[in-house]
Amino acid sequence: MRFEGKTALVTGAAGGIGRTLVALLRAEGARVAVSDRDTTAVEAEAHLDGDLLDGAFCDALPGQAVAALGQLDMVFNNAGVITRGAITEATDADYALTMGVNVEAPFRICRAAIPLMAKTGGGAIVNTSSCWGLRPGPNHPLYVMSKAAIASLTQCLGRDHAHQGIRINAVCPNEVNTPMLRTGFVQRGFDPDKAVEELNASVPIGHIAEPEEIADVALFLASDAARYMCGALVEVNGGKSVT
Ligand SMILES: NC(=O)c1ccc[n+]([C@@H]2O[C@H](COP(=O)([O-])OP(=O)(O)OC[C@H]3O[C@@H](n4cnc5c(N)ncnc54)[C@H](O)[C@@H]3O)[C@@H](O)[C@H]2O)c1
Repeated sequence: MRFEGKTALVTGAAGGIGRTLVALLRAEGARVAVSDRDTTAVEAEAHLDGDLLDGAFCDALPGQAVAALGQLDMVFNNAGVITRGAITEATDADYALTMGVNVEAPFRICRAAIPLMAKTGGGAIVNTSSCWGLRPGPNHPLYVMSKAAIASLTQCLGRDHAHQGIRINAVCPNEVNTPMLRTGFVQRGFDPDKAVEELNASVPIGHIAEPEEIADVALFLASDAARYMCGALVEVNGGKSVT
């Protein structure tokens, strides 16, 4: 029960990793405010649904979590979108979507959450970057750029706000077995089960990550066991690095 008496805000809470984060946090005693476009199917103490492309919504989200839960100890900026394909095929809308959800929303949420956490003596923010934010995977320039930006923001904020007792770190997964990955296969005309099986063979540990394998590391970063970690980018990749 590492999170007894603690509260958390989780974005992307209806997605593959998000749902798991919420369930594991609650199983360890946290009270959780969940946010996504629709979290009606997610059990939680507060539901703060909306569109992360709406700047005013993001600015208000940490305050809404405090209003609902009384305080805010942890924020998981987990929501994300993946935009695929060469830059020559990317539209302005692709750019705005990718940077809006993956970079601007966490920027706004961090900006609003930090003063609230500082007031109550500190807290932990866990951002979600990607192995592809640390080294570029092929043919996803917008996604990779956005994940590099959130990685850099994490390093900056980890250093700038440590003195306030606020630890800001990022988890950097490689492939994870979630709707994000599987819908990509479907869109490209592949059977997702077969495609995941093939991908499993490319990972030294023998399989791509299940959401729990990422959520466990995110929870560690939010926990007291990571009390000296600030601005860290933690790769969780089963031994498969981006080449
Ligand atoms: N699945 C992978 O292979 C993988 C690898 C590395 C990093 N990640 C990152 O992990 C995080 C979680 O991804 P996932 O695999 O669980 O994906 P997912 O698609 O299952 O979940 C993402 C969630 O974000 C929400 N979201 C997207 N745009 C939104 C918006 N405008 N407003 C509100 N909510 C919005 C979606 O509704 C969805 O529920 C993302 O940041 C992703 O980039 C995933």
